[in-house]
Amino acid sequence: MVFSVCAIAAAKPTSGVVFDASKGVAGSVTMPNGEIVNYTAYTNLYYVTNVEDSTYQYMNVFIPESADQSTPIFMPNYVGGYMAAEPRFIDAGDASGRALAEGYVVVIPGARGRNSVVKGENGKDIYTGRAPKALLDLKAGIRYLRHFDKEMLGNAEIIITDGTSAGGAMSALLGATGNNPSYEKYLKEMGAFDERDDIFAAVCFCPIIDLEHADAAYEWLYSCTNNITRPLSEEQVQVSKELSLQYPAYLNSLNLKMQDGTPINSENYLDYIKSLLIKSAQEAKDNGAEIPDSIGFSFNNRAIFAPPINGGEKPKRAKRPRPMGMPKMQGEYITGLDINKYLNYVVSVTPLKTPPAFDSQGVAGSRASGENEEFGNEKGSSVNFTDYSLQKASGDANAHISPEIAELVRLMNPMNFISDTNSNVAPHWYIRHGSKDRDTAFSVPINLATKLQNEGKDVNFKLAWNRPHSGDYALNEMFGWIKLILGE
Ligand code: DHB
Repeated sequence: MVFSVCAIAAAKPTSGVVFDASKGVAGSVTMPNGEIVNYTAYTNLYYVTNVEDSTYQYMNVFIPESADQSTPIFMPNYVGGYMAAEPRFIDAGDASGRALAEGYVVVIPGARGRNSVVKGENGKDIYTGRAPKALLDLKAGIRYLRHFDKEMLGNAEIIITDGTSAGGAMSALLGATGNNPSYEKYLKEMGAFDERDDIFAAVCFCPIIDLEHADAAYEWLYSCTNNITRPLSEEQVQVSKELSLQYPAYLNSLNLKMQDGTPINSENYLDYIKSLLIKSAQEAKDNGAEIPDSIGFSFNNRAIFAPPINGGEKPKRAKRPRPMGMPKMQGEYITGLDINKYLNYVVSVTPLKTPPAFDSQGVAGSRASGENEEFGNEKGSSVNFTDYSLQKASGDANAHISPEIAELVRLMNPMNFISDTNSNVAPHWYIRHGSKDRDTAFSVPINLATKLQNEGKDVNFKLAWNRPHSGDYALNEMFGWIKLILGE
C-alpha cells in the first residue's frame, strides 16, 4: 500500500529509544522530471531517552527501494536563524528529494532552537533550545543511526550532513566536533546513545560561524562602505572602526596558508578574497554569465582575430566610433577587481547589518540579535557573548563575559575544533558562500575552508557566483561532488 506519510501526526515518545524495521510505511515521491521514487518511511523516531521537547527531538528516515546496508546516508537539517526545526518529509524540489532519487537513505532530524519552548509547571515558557542544544540534538540523531546501523538499511559510517546558514553552521559543527568529549556530559544527560558521532562529509552553505569574531570580520571587510552605501550614525561608525581594528590580529593568529604554501595574513588577505571572487566570476563568465562592467571587475581587451590584410598594411579607413547605445565589448578574461567597488555593489543589493552585526544587544542603539538569544538561558534571556559588546552595552570597560557563556560560545564554533586532536573531523567538506551574500563577511567561510585545507581535509570551496544568502543550489554540482567522494 502506498500512501502519504505526511498526514501522520507526531507521536509522543515512548519510553526507551527504539527502531523497529518492520514498522516502515511505504511512500513515493514524484520528481520534477516525472521519475517516481518509492521509499519506506520511518517517522517519529525519538533519538534520546530524556526528551525535553517532543515537537523537535525526533527524526524521519526515508529508505529508497534500492538501498541496502552499504547505502550512504544523506542528512539535511532545516535549521535557520538558529531557530528550531521540525523534522520534515521528502521534498521533491529540494536536496532531500534529489538525494532519495540518487538512491541515498535520507534522514531528516528535528532540532531544538532559540525559539523552542515548552510550558513549565507554572504555565511559564521554558526555552528548550538555547546553545548548544540544536547541535546536541543532531549529534544524538547521528548516535541513534550508529546504534541501529545493523537494524536499519544504510551505512551509518557514511553520513553526509547538509545545512544552510545557521543550519550550515550545524553541518560544520557536526563535521568538526565528531566524538569530541566537550559535548559528552550534555549528551549523556539527554539520554543519547553512547556511540560515536563523527561523520563522513559536511555540506555547508553560507555557514554562520565564528560568532565571536564575526563582528570584527564584518567591519574589517565592509567599513569601506560606511556612509557611502551604508548609512550609519556617528556612534555606529565609531563601533565599526573599533571592531575593524580587532580583526587583523585574529587573522594573523590563524596562521593560514594558501594551497601553494604562501602564508596568509592581514596584509594579503584582501588579495586572497579578490582572487576567490575573480575565480568565481571567471568560471561563471566561462559558462556564459554576463558580468557587468559596473561592479568592479576589469577585463582584458577584446580578443579580436585580426588576420593581416593588404599584405599587413593598416587599413586606410578611419576608425569608426562605437555607435551610441552599443555596449563596450568586454574581453574574455577578468584581469582585476576593485574590491571597494565590489563591496559597495554587494551592499547596494542587500543593505548591511549595522555594527555590531551579531553581538548587537545594547550597542550603539541596537537591539538583541538572534545570536544574543541563542546564548541566552531557558528563561528566554538574551546575552552579550563578546567582551567588546558587553563592555559597550554595560558601560563597564572591565567587564568580561562569564566563563559559562564563553564555554557555550566555544562549543558553537567549528573553528575551535578543527585542530583539536580530540575531534574526529570529517574528511570531506563542500562549502559554498554566495558572492553577494552579506549575512556574514566572506572571510568567515574562507577561514573555515582554508583551515580545513591546511589540516589536510578534502575541501571543495567556492564563493558561488551571484548567489545571495541561500543554500542547496546547483544540486547537479553538489551531488556530482558527493558521487566523487563516494567513488561512485
Ligand atoms: C541566519 C542568518 C543570519 O544573518 C544570521 O545572523 C544567523 C542565521 C540564517 O539564515 O540562518
